[in-house]
Amino acid sequence: MSQLQLIDKQNVPQHIAIIMDGNGRWAKQQGENRIFGHYEGVNSVRDVVEGAGEAGVKYITLYAFSTENWNRPKEEVDALMELLVSTISMETPQLNKKNVSLQAIGNLNSLPPACLQELNESIEMTSKNTGLKLILALSYSAKWELTEAVKHIAENVKNGTLAVKDISEKLIENELCTKGIPDPELMIRTSGEHRISNFLLWQLAYAEFYFTEKLWPEFRKDDLFTAILNYQNRERRFGKTSEQLTQPK
Ligand code: FPP
Repeated sequence: MSQLQLIDKQNVPQHIAIIMDGNGRWAKQQGENRIFGHYEGVNSVRDVVEGAGEAGVKYITLYAFSTENWNRPKEEVDALMELLVSTISMETPQLNKKNVSLQAIGNLNSLPPACLQELNESIEMTSKNTGLKLILALSYSAKWELTEAVKHIAENVKNGTLAVKDISEKLIENELCTKGIPDPELMIRTSGEHRISNFLLWQLAYAEFYFTEKLWPEFRKDDLFTAILNYQNRERRFGKTSEQLTQPK
């Protein structure tokens, strides 16, 4: 029986966030350069996005390029940007076929113009799709996102359009890049690293974390289904006791 059939369709996380890690190490294991690993990583992206749709996930956010990734060697940054452009352009018809809409979060204006243009075109071309929402985190870091939110809130207080007493969790959420997107219930990180790496710090407050030793190019839809099954065996208490969850109200 496939892992997919074992999934309880009533309890699928509606939003899964993934830190795709280990492309460089995978490439090294193959005796290739790091960029080869990113290319193979695209095959995992395609398979996992397809699997997310099959499992009934509504949103999937992929950490494709962090603010800190700009500090990598220029050759690698350039290759990643080219890969993003070519992948987005090539995959858009397939996204439409699968009813997937593309979105992006992050400091998008810092992307090279060709990358931003391709991204915006694909977002526009897939905007009417009603199935899975694929969200790419690009030039994203949570500390950048929160700093921008704080600046905007402070400006509104300063110019008198916002009172301090009206600052609430909801208001802060509406200042984040993920405005309107439910928080992820499950965060997956590949490659055996147990870090959050400046990813969705606010939004992951109550997420379940799933770590796997698999390197990103080895992670495919069956691994996603395994992670969902693992999630379904967890008890999400949100600060309550186990007894409170089982007692009738
Ligand atoms: C982390 O592995 C991976 C990245 C920084 C880039 C992820 C990009 C892709 C999978 C390809 C493009 C994606 C899309 C959505 C089109 P690493 O390089 O940090 O690996 P390492 O830790 O082994 O060095």
